[in-house]
Amino acid sequence: MKKSVVWKDKKWKTGMRITLDYKNMMADSIGKGYGITLNELEKMAAKAKRIDKVLKQGWKERKIGFFDLPFQGENVNNIKSFAKKVKTDYEAFVVLGIGGSALGPIALQTALNPPHYNLLTKKERNGCPRLFVADNIDPAGFEGILRVVDPEKTMFNVISKSGGTAETMSQFIIVRDMLKKRLGKNYKDHMVATTDPEKGILRKIATDEGLETFPIPANVGGRFSVFSSVGLLPAAVVGIDIEELLAGAAYMNELCMTSDLFQNPAYLNATLQFLADKKGKPMSVMMPYADSLKDIADWYRQLWAESLGKKVSLDGKIVHTGPTPIKALGATDQHSQLQLYIEGPFDKVVTLIGVKDFGAEAKIPKAYKEIGELGYLGGHTLKELILAEMLASEMALTHNHRMNCTITLPEVNAFTIGQLLQMLMIQTAFAGGLYNIDPFDQPGVEQGKQYAYGMMGRKGFEGKKKEVDEYIYIKKTGSLKGYAV
Ligand code: PA5
Repeated sequence: MKKSVVWKDKKWKTGMRITLDYKNMMADSIGKGYGITLNELEKMAAKAKRIDKVLKQGWKERKIGFFDLPFQGENVNNIKSFAKKVKTDYEAFVVLGIGGSALGPIALQTALNPPHYNLLTKKERNGCPRLFVADNIDPAGFEGILRVVDPEKTMFNVISKSGGTAETMSQFIIVRDMLKKRLGKNYKDHMVATTDPEKGILRKIATDEGLETFPIPANVGGRFSVFSSVGLLPAAVVGIDIEELLAGAAYMNELCMTSDLFQNPAYLNATLQFLADKKGKPMSVMMPYADSLKDIADWYRQLWAESLGKKVSLDGKIVHTGPTPIKALGATDQHSQLQLYIEGPFDKVVTLIGVKDFGAEAKIPKAYKEIGELGYLGGHTLKELILAEMLASEMALTHNHRMNCTITLPEVNAFTIGQLLQMLMIQTAFAGGLYNIDPFDQPGVEQGKQYAYGMMGRKGFEGKKKEVDEYIYIKKTGSLKGYAV
C-alpha cells in the first residue's frame, strides 16, 4: 500500500510503461499458415485510422465517456475525503453490486492490496477497513457476508448504474431493512450509493432518503466504469492510491492518441485478436503469471465478452459474432488447462501477462542436495521458478504453432494497473469497430433481466411473465418432456 507521487516523475513513468510483445502472433515466429503475416497486419492500418476517427469523434462529442475518467478532479477529491471518514469510523466496507459494478472493485483490490488483506490486522491494513464484495445473490453467500461484519461498524456501498438491477437492489433492500432495525434513523450513516447522476430509482431513493451518493457519468457503462466512482471509492477506502491509478490510465490515453496501428498498443492488440479470430481462433485466453492479476483476467472476461458478443451489426445485419474470453492463471493452470492450449484444437490465442518485479523473491533453501529430482531447486527463488515456467509455456505454445503474445508490467502498482485496464478498455472499444458492432450495449443481458423481472412480478413485465409460464408449461407437458434424468 505504497503512497507516493512518484508518478509525477517523467523518468519513473517511462520506466513503468507496460509493453506488448506480439512476435509470437506472427507467422514468422510460429510458422507459415499458423500466424498472422506482416502483410495482413499492414492491410489493417487504413481501417485502424477510420475506426480511430470514429472513436475520437465519440469522445469529443461525449458519447464515449470512459476516456475522460482519468481527468475527474473534483470527484476524486470528494471520494478521497469520504474515504478518509470511512477509514476513521468503520471497520468494514461492503460493496453491493454485480457485473461491471463489482468486477472493477474486485480487480483493483486483488491487484493492489496484499494477499489475504481481510485477514491482516488493522495496523497492517494501514488503518483501512476490510473489504467485501457481494456480487452474487446466492442466499448462503450473501448471509455469509452479513454474518462476518458488524453492521454498526460497516459502510455498505450499493453500486448500480441503472439503479434497477434486481440482484443489487434486493441486496440493498435487505441491508437497509437490517440497518433500520438495528440503528433506526442512523441507518443512513451506513449506506452510500453509486449510481447515474440523474436517472434511475436508486438515484431517487438516495435523494429522497438523504443518502450520500457518488456519480457514474451517464456516458459510462458498467464494464467501462472501473475508473469512475464505481472502482475509485472502494479502492480509496482500502488505501489504494487512486490518483496514481488515474495517472496510469491517463498515460495510456497518451500512448493511444496515435492512429498509427503499429504504434498504438490497444489498437494493435485488438487487431491481432481480431485477425486471430478470423483465422479460426475465437477462444481468447488471458493467463497472467501473478496471483495479483487473476481478477483482472476476470474483469477483462466480462469486458471482452459482453462488449463484443453481438447478434446485430452496426448496419443492421444478423452476424452472431464475438470471441470467447477464457481466464487462466499461471503457473497454477499449467496443471489444468495448458495441455489443451498446447495440443488441443487450433482455436485459441493466448495472452500471457508477466511481471518483472514481484516485490518478493521467496528463496528456496538448499536441501536434498543428494537427490537429483529436488536438489537443483535449492538456492533458487519462487520468482525465478515462476518466470522460468512462464517462458517455458511461451516456448511450448510457440513451438506448437500456437498464437501467443505477452504483456509485461515492470511491477504491479497503481500506475501500471491504470495503464493495463485503460489499454484493455480502449482495445475493446476499438475491437467494436473491427467487428462492426456496438461494444457499449448489451441487449442479450437486458433480455435475461426482463424475464427475471417478469418472474418476480415487476409491473410492466407481465408479458415476460406470460412467456415464462408458457415456457415452463411446454417444458413440463410438451414434446420436450422426458429429456431429463
Ligand atoms: O457492463 C454492464 O453494463 C453490465 O455488466 C452491468 O454492469 C451489470 O448488468 C449491472 O448493472 P447495473 O450497474 O446497472 O446494476
